[in-house]
Amino acid sequence: TGMFTYDPGFLSTASCQSSITFIDGEKGRLLYRGYPIEQLATQCDFLDVCYLLLKGELPNVGQRDEFHKLVISHTMVHEQMQFFMRGFRRDAHPMAVLTGLIGALSAFYHDSTDIHNAEHREIAAIRLISKLPTLVAMAYKYGVGQPYMYPRNDLSYAGNFLRMMFGVPSADYQVNPVIERAMDRIFILHADHEQNASTSTVRLCGSSGTNPFAAIAAGVACLWGPAHGGANEACLNMLENIQANGGIAKVGEFMEQVKDKNSGVKLMGFGHRVYKNYDPRAKLMQETCNEVLAELGLEKDPLFALAKQVEKIALEDDYFVQRKLYPNVDFYSGIVQRAIGIPVKLFTGIFTLARTVGWIAQLNEMISDPEYKIGRPRQLYVGAPERKVTPIGER
Ligand code: CMC
Repeated sequence: TGMFTYDPGFLSTASCQSSITFIDGEKGRLLYRGYPIEQLATQCDFLDVCYLLLKGELPNVGQRDEFHKLVISHTMVHEQMQFFMRGFRRDAHPMAVLTGLIGALSAFYHDSTDIHNAEHREIAAIRLISKLPTLVAMAYKYGVGQPYMYPRNDLSYAGNFLRMMFGVPSADYQVNPVIERAMDRIFILHADHEQNASTSTVRLCGSSGTNPFAAIAAGVACLWGPAHGGANEACLNMLENIQANGGIAKVGEFMEQVKDKNSGVKLMGFGHRVYKNYDPRAKLMQETCNEVLAELGLEKDPLFALAKQVEKIALEDDYFVQRKLYPNVDFYSGIVQRAIGIPVKLFTGIFTLARTVGWIAQLNEMISDPEYKIGRPRQLYVGAPERKVTPIGER
C-alpha cells in the first residue's frame, strides 16, 4: 500500500490517545475514567458523570453543588431561537431540527467561539450540557404543536427535561421519581463510548479549529444514521412489526428468518463491533426496563414479553452463541423510552442529549494534546492517470 496504511472503516487504526473511556469488548466491560459503568449508573447521577468525563475526577460535595448551579444557570435558550424553530415544518425529523439548532448556537454566543481558548471551550461546554434538554424538548413540543415549557431550575437535570417534555402550562407536572431515575440512567449509559463514528466526527471537525458548537453539530449529524444512533429506533420498529404479525407465537419463525442469510433480516439490538459479550449497558437497561414497567403497571406489556422471548431464544441458539451476538444497549432502551411516552422519532434526540458531554470531553482532550494536528487522512488514488482535456465539441 505504498507510503500509507490502507484501513477502510478504521478497523485497526487508533486515531488518538485517550484517557476518557475504556471498553473491553471480550469481557463486556465499560469504564468512564476508570470507573465501571455499573457503579456510575447506580451511585452517581448524570451531572456527576458529566463532571467526571469533563474533568477526570468525580466531584466532591462542594464541586457537585457548584457544577449543578453552573449548569442550571444556562438552561434557557435565547428567545430568538423560537423564530429559528418556526422555520421548520411541524413534521420535520427531530434530528434535522437538532442539527440545525445546535449549529445555530454558534451564531448566538460570541464569547465562546475560539476552540483553542480554554475559557471559551469551558463556557461552550456548560451551555451545551445545559441547553440540550431545552432544545430536545422544544423540538418535541414544536412537532406536537404544544407551547414550549421553560426550564425549571429547582428540578434535577432529568426531572427538568421530563417536565419540559410532558408538562403543559395549564397543569402542574409531578416528576415521577422512578421515571426520573430511568431517564437519568439512559443519559449515563449513553454519555460516552470512545472513538465511535460521531465522536471521531467531532474530533475531525474540531481539528480544523472551527467553532465549538459547529463541531458538536457535526457529531449530531453523524449520530443520526441508522447504523449508529438510529439503531434503537430500528429495534423498536422490529419488535412492533413482530407484534403486528402474530406476536410472541411468531418469535420462533422470525428467528429462523434472522438465521437465514438470504432473508436480509437482522436482529436489531443484537451484536456489536466491539462487544463480543453481553453489552454491560444492556444489563443495566434491562434492570431499568423492569422498574419502569412495574411502576407504570405495564409488566404485562406484550412488547416486553416479546423482547424477553427473543432474547431467551437468542441466548440459547447456536447461531447467536457461536457468533457471540448478545443484546446491546438499544435492545431495551427503546422499550423504556416508549413506556415513558417518548415517541420513536425522538429516540436519537435523547441519545444526542446524552452523548453531547462525551463529544465535548473528547474535543477538549484533543485540543489540549500537545501532539494534536488537524486530522487529514491520506488515500490510495485509483482514478484515471493524468490526461488532457478534449475540447468540448470533440468529446
Ligand atoms: N442479527 C443476525 N446476525 C448478525 C447480527 C444480527 N444483529 N449481527 C451480526 N450478525 C452475524 C453476521 O451476519 C455475521 O455472520 P457470518 O459470520 O455468518 O457472516 C456475524 O454475525 C458477524 O457479524 P459482523 O457483521 O461481521 O459484525 P460487525 O462487527 O461488522 O457488526 C453490528 C456489528 C452492530 C453492525 C451488527 O451486529 C448489527 O448490524 N447489529 C444490529 C444493529 C444494531 O443493533 N446496532 C446497534 C449497535 S450498538 C449502538 C451503538 O453503540 O451505536
